[in-house]
Amino acid sequence: MRWILANDVEDVGRIASDIVLDYLKSHYESVLALPTGRTPEAMYNKLVEACQTQQCFEHTTLFNLDEYVGLPTDHPSSFASYVRRCLLDRVKIDKSRCHAPNGVAPNLAAECARYERAIQLAGGIDLAILGLGTNGHIGFNEPGSSFNSTTHVVNLSESTRTANAEYFTGGEVPKQAITMGIETIMGADRILLLASGSKKKDAIRRLRNEPPNIDFPASALKNHRDVTIITDRAAG
Ligand code: GLP
Repeated sequence: MRWILANDVEDVGRIASDIVLDYLKSHYESVLALPTGRTPEAMYNKLVEACQTQQCFEHTTLFNLDEYVGLPTDHPSSFASYVRRCLLDRVKIDKSRCHAPNGVAPNLAAECARYERAIQLAGGIDLAILGLGTNGHIGFNEPGSSFNSTTHVVNLSESTRTANAEYFTGGEVPKQAITMGIETIMGADRILLLASGSKKKDAIRRLRNEPPNIDFPASALKNHRDVTIITDRAAG
């Protein structure tokens, strides 16, 4: 694991965006997994800025990491809307290459299988960009998630629902989500994990100190050969 200590969340975004742009330059037609949350917003802003003067996503395929069960893709609190707002609506990209799990699919198991198949048909994930939950979740793989999981439905923990409540003013945070599995994420050629803010301090400490164990999902990354972790000072 490579650790990079950034000054603040803006700096995390700048460094992450530089790494992503470098990756896109050297990997034609790459497949990316995309995170949501507050931390990656600065990265998306920097990427959008860079895309005004250079080619970025023209040949890239994108898969969102996760989605709430019960939210249609056009719901303002859905992760699909988040990624559209932060990136897709602001850059030149072939929308048919942008994928998200369908949280309102009538058969969720079939939807998970479809999404996993789509990822594998695209050749698997090349670069997975991840955030970090305060409880160590990556994507929405909550503590206890099998390291052998592919795309699946998860029950969200109370702490995760509370942490994401600010995106649901006036509404309840869904109790379930569809997430890319840990095995799917670990299949990536390269992984970038971003964490910011003092609320992530304990999770970062655990990531440094704990051996791989399913009670702390991000610890699975220790088994991967190419992981870069970027934290700000408050988290790291
Ligand atoms: C949500 C997402 C995660 C993300 C986490 C952290 O729970 N599903 O993928 O890692 O938020 O987000 P933040 O950066 O806002 O703390």
